[in-house]
Amino acid sequence: MANVLERFRIDGRTAIVTGGSRGLGRVIALALAQAGARVAITARSSATAEETAAAIASESGQPAIGLAVEVTSRTQVEDLMSKVLDWSGRIDILVNNAGINIRGPIESLSESDWDAVIDTNLKGPWLCCRAAAPAMKSRKWGRVINLSSMLGEISLPGRTPYASSKGGLTLLTRTLALEWAKDGINVNALCPGPFATEINTALLNDPQVRAEMQSNIPLARWGDPLELGPAAVFLASEASSFMTGATLFIDGGYTAR
Ligand SMILES: NC(=O)c1ccc[n+]([C@@H]2O[C@H](COP(=O)([O-])OP(=O)(O)OC[C@H]3O[C@@H](n4cnc5c(N)ncnc54)[C@H](OP(=O)(O)O)[C@@H]3O)[C@@H](O)[C@H]2O)c1
Repeated sequence: MANVLERFRIDGRTAIVTGGSRGLGRVIALALAQAGARVAITARSSATAEETAAAIASESGQPAIGLAVEVTSRTQVEDLMSKVLDWSGRIDILVNNAGINIRGPIESLSESDWDAVIDTNLKGPWLCCRAAAPAMKSRKWGRVINLSSMLGEISLPGRTPYASSKGGLTLLTRTLALEWAKDGINVNALCPGPFATEINTALLNDPQVRAEMQSNIPLARWGDPLELGPAAVFLASEASSFMTGATLFIDGGYTAR
């Protein structure tokens, strides 16, 4: 029987990581490349997507490309899948990571705030899953990893659009896991707790909010983005072959309370 670590290798696979230009997506893209995959990363900013792809290729030795894609646009998402198929001939792994947060009491939020968060965090993954499905189904193998959140399970005040989008994403994950179980495509949600990235700049810059958040984390610290890479490789590989429709929390124990 193969060494257990061999089951984590994804050599020959092609992965797409939306929002891979920075933060958690960048760490996940590098981890997948280090585990053997060719990686296409996307962001709205083509310059940062291309820069990050070049850095990942040089650090991992795997081919990587950076593409400008607005995940809320059906035509741009469909174009992304065509470009990746032209580049590499296959799509095996899709990481729906691009996401935003707009916080505030419901009365202070606008309809466009709601639309922006729901469209990016929920409609975007739906469009990407739908567009990537034919390539995965044709090979009877696929892995979808949806970056949901601990706020898809529990909530905090001031998070109506975000928690609603992530709760929806967790249920999108379960629904597609059932729909695609017969097609060899496993669909799981990776649910981070608080990590120190750009999406949390407002919280990190407020010493009181930062400390309050930390006081609710049993491991008593914010997560380091590097701590997500191994879990992403697990969910992208044969190591997780009997896992679908699951939610994996990497949250320092936040949701254990
Ligand atoms: N950090 C945390 O504590 C935490 C906790 C739980 C869940 N998450 C989830 O993890 C994911 C990554 O978060 P992060 O902390 O790494 O955020 P981040 O540092 O702000 O990075 C977000 C990424 O998404 C891209 N993006 C944003 N809107 C987009 C759009 N409409 N179309 C295409 N790309 C878009 C950004 O690039 P451009 O701006 O150039 O488009 C960037 O690459 C998100 O889904 C987030 O909700 C994060």
